[in-house]
Amino acid sequence: MIFARKATTPSPAHAARLIGLGSYLPPQKVSNADLASRLDTTDEWIRTRIGVAERHIADPATATSDLAVEAGLRAMKSAEVEHVDAVIVATATPDHHVPGTAPLVAHQLGLRQIPAFDLSAGCSGFVYATTVAAGLIHAKTAGTVLVIGAEKMSAVIDPADRSTAPIFGDGAGAVVLTAGHADEPGALGPAAWGSDGEHADAICIPDGGSRRPSNPTDGVNDPYVRMKGNEVFRHAVRRISQVTQESAAAAGWAIQDIDRLIVHQANARISAAVANTLGIPTERVPSNIIHVGNTSAASIPLLLSHSAIDGQLKARQRVVVTSFGAGFTWAATTLLWPIDLQALA
Ligand code: COA
Repeated sequence: MIFARKATTPSPAHAARLIGLGSYLPPQKVSNADLASRLDTTDEWIRTRIGVAERHIADPATATSDLAVEAGLRAMKSAEVEHVDAVIVATATPDHHVPGTAPLVAHQLGLRQIPAFDLSAGCSGFVYATTVAAGLIHAKTAGTVLVIGAEKMSAVIDPADRSTAPIFGDGAGAVVLTAGHADEPGALGPAAWGSDGEHADAICIPDGGSRRPSNPTDGVNDPYVRMKGNEVFRHAVRRISQVTQESAAAAGWAIQDIDRLIVHQANARISAAVANTLGIPTERVPSNIIHVGNTSAASIPLLLSHSAIDGQLKARQRVVVTSFGAGFTWAATTLLWPIDLQALA
């Protein structure tokens, strides 16, 4: 059984509007040559099959909340705000099972006593979180929300697994959303989202949760992401293409109206297959996977930030942001690119 929601249109008066954008990458880079020196792989295989040349890896003392704080600071500086009404951190790699990461981040940002919570939806986490934030703004529960996607994927990737180690990287990105009108630049349009837990084992960390608590003495202790790459690939292309169409249609946009398609950076071949399926020219599909790999929930805000800084996102462009991840989950939203947004990286 598939649980999916069709796109819903926010009222014109209370759309969420993008006013701040920031991102952060930990300084250390790991090249394909570095990986090939310890794994049975090659630079050529990783570049052609995944599209990655290097990824950023956080040092052992750095946790997801540290990456999130850096991105959050930059987004708030970009928005020129010192306060927000709520913080949502989308992550699959929280600092701890308990407490959530968002209260730690809010505290570090000096945002005392505001609501702060995590959202877990795999690589779709950031688009899910912006959808939730837009709902809070629409309901007037919050006026301004900081939404962060942050991951220390290196904490959950088996360094000896050549089918996952070349793919993933660490990083964080963040946006500030505030109340606005649906027709003004910066406004988020209708979101489309869904999930299908039938494929829960396609991307899964087997142990350490309540299903199989980590117990090294019983030999149950696999704390790493295990992935059925081919299955994920097939479903990702289908779901991203579908949810992009749903979101665009709900906004009244034809596919050819989309100026920029911001696709979750899972694999360069997935993005190419989506562009091909939808008939969108590849020059309208920005990419940064070659330098950052798949950063899961951080992927979309990192790509937004990098694309804004390198001039690929311009005022009033019609943008669709679209993602797919563990669960399976998928989500997309439309966005009119703001005027005068200064992204900070
Ligand atoms: N280096 C060299 N060879 C590798 C390799 C590596 N890093 N990883 C796998 N291979 C080998 C396999 O063992 C297999 O060898 P065989 O034919 O002798 O059995 C061969 O390459 C092909 O493996 P396959 O799994 O079919 O490759 P693929 O083209 O599907 O690429 C992924 C594998 C993981 C890159 C690809 O399936 C993928 O990107 N899936 C989506 C993953 C993803 O996006 N996850 C996050 C979603 S949010």
